Amino acid sequence: MQTDFLRLFKKPLLYERTESVFWDDDHISAQLLQAHLDPSFEGASRPHAFIERSAEWIGRTVPPETYPALLDLGCGPGLYAEKFAQGGYRVTGVDCSRRSIEYAAKSAAEKGLHIRYLSEDYLHLSLRETFDFAAMIYCDYGALSANERRTLLQIVHRHLRPGGRFLFDVFSDAAYAAFREKTTWEVCPDGGFWSADGYVALCRHEKYPEHVTLEQTIVLTGQGAAGRYHIWNTCFSREALISEVQEGGFQVKGICSDVAGAPYREESPVIALLLEK
Ligand SMILES: C[S@@+](CC[C@H](N)C(=O)[O-])C[C@H]1O[C@@H](n2cnc3c(N)ncnc32)[C@H](O)[C@@H]1O
Repeated sequence: MQTDFLRLFKKPLLYERTESVFWDDDHISAQLLQAHLDPSFEGASRPHAFIERSAEWIGRTVPPETYPALLDLGCGPGLYAEKFAQGGYRVTGVDCSRRSIEYAAKSAAEKGLHIRYLSEDYLHLSLRETFDFAAMIYCDYGALSANERRTLLQIVHRHLRPGGRFLFDVFSDAAYAAFREKTTWEVCPDGGFWSADGYVALCRHEKYPEHVTLEQTIVLTGQGAAGRYHIWNTCFSREALISEVQEGGFQVKGICSDVAGAPYREESPVIALLLEK
């Protein structure tokens, strides 16, 4: 098999997607599930002690007595969804990783929790019901392109009742300033995160204008196969984020430095917004 190296290494256009599947790839999703379930690892989910604190704060701030029906977008293996269900919400979790959803459903059944899990792309979600509260946690919003963010806001708006709330977080301008450009490579002869076969991974971290970062990984396996993975992140100033959600028809009810209620600070790498429809 011949690989077109020039095409492979060409600098991607802003928000360019690749043909390689990431979240739902059979091998990568198994590595990601392991990362989610590691209580101290920060990467797929936040450390479990933070999730515990965060779920408690959310329960006090958007109480299940007033906001019982909760839509958890990008719920992963259900770390938040289970805490929400235990806290008294009626939870629907949505995730495109079939492996995570299978794990989440099994875990909820074992714990006797009634959680509805849907294996779907939240950018195409169309349920015939509305919710009191939607959450999208761990900076997924900024991984979307500007068009996808508009679509996502419309979808959340459509799935909330009037007065319903939406909580989400993003990386801030401070995170963009701290992002370091670099090019590295890694040799994994016995396979690793990206492939079960031996591979070389070439990683490029690059800043784009408009406060966007790219983490690109090109994976070349011993069999001559090549995969490209792009993790885009749009970082926001408080003003830019507020203006974007207001254009989407939401009112800002709260702004914090994380989804556990830390007071807002300009230098925080994360901004969490609580919105109302
Ligand atoms: C960074 S993880 C966060 C998981 C969870 N919210 C948490 O904090 O533990 C992002 C999750 O969003 C899911 N995801 C990414 N894009 C998605 C999409 N378009 N539709 C549904 N789920 C998606 C991934 O499979 C992954 O489980």
